[in-house]
Amino acid sequence: MNLKDQINLDRLPQHIAIIMDGNGRWAKQQGKQRTFGHQNGVNAVREASESAAELGVRYLTLYAFSTENWNRPKYEIDALMQLLVESIDKETPTLNKNNIRLNAIGDIKSLPEKSYNQLLKTIKETAGNDRMTLTLALSYSSRWEITETVKLISSKIENKELNIDDIDQQLISSYLNTSSMPDPELLIRTSGELRISNFLLWQIAYSELYFTPKLWPDFKKEDLYDAIIDYQNRERRFGKTSEQILKNTVE
Ligand code: IPE
Ligand code: IPE
Ligand code: MG
Repeated sequence: MNLKDQINLDRLPQHIAIIMDGNGRWAKQQGKQRTFGHQNGVNAVREASESAAELGVRYLTLYAFSTENWNRPKYEIDALMQLLVESIDKETPTLNKNNIRLNAIGDIKSLPEKSYNQLLKTIKETAGNDRMTLTLALSYSSRWEITETVKLISSKIENKELNIDDIDQQLISSYLNTSSMPDPELLIRTSGELRISNFLLWQIAYSELYFTPKLWPDFKKEDLYDAIIDYQNRERRFGKTSEQILKNTVE
């Protein structure tokens, strides 16, 4: 049986988040500049988006540029921002063909004007698509997002639009950048690094984590299938006992 057929389509994660890591190391292995790795990373983005949408995943969230990535050399940042404009522009017809809606989270106003405008343009042009939402996390970090949320909620309280007693976990979730999506059931990180790097800290409270040594430009459809199969073989207990979970599944 091929890998794809081993996936139980009735138990797909609705939301998969990916920390796309390892572009620089991939390029270095071939004696090329880091930016060559980023260029090839775009193909992996296309491949992951298409295969997730084909399977029926509703939300795919990709960590593309972190708040901390602003500390990289200027030429690398410029190349990444240029690549962002070009690839979003180029991929817009494919997103429409595949019925995928583009979305973004993060401090996108801090992006260069050209990247920001292209991003908004494609978000608008794909807004009617409803098979899958592809979210790019750009100039994103979870601590930035949570800080913004705390400020927003505080200002609502100050203006008497909210009471302190209204604050609960659901309200906090509804003020995060990800308010329109369920929490990811599965978080994948490529390149063998075993860390979260400030990504979706609130939202991954109960996500299943999957780490692969594959570098992002080498991440293919089969790698996504592998991750989903691994996820489907886990027992998600949410604090309960294994016996309680098994009882519920047979009933
Ligand atoms: C991930 O690859 C892409 C971004 C963070 C923009 P890296 O550029 O981090 O590649 P490595 O981790 O240095 O190999
Ligand atoms: C995380 O990768 C951010 C993105 C994938 C966009 P990094 O390569 O920036 O993470 P660290 O610095 O190794 O933790
Ligand atoms: Mg990295």
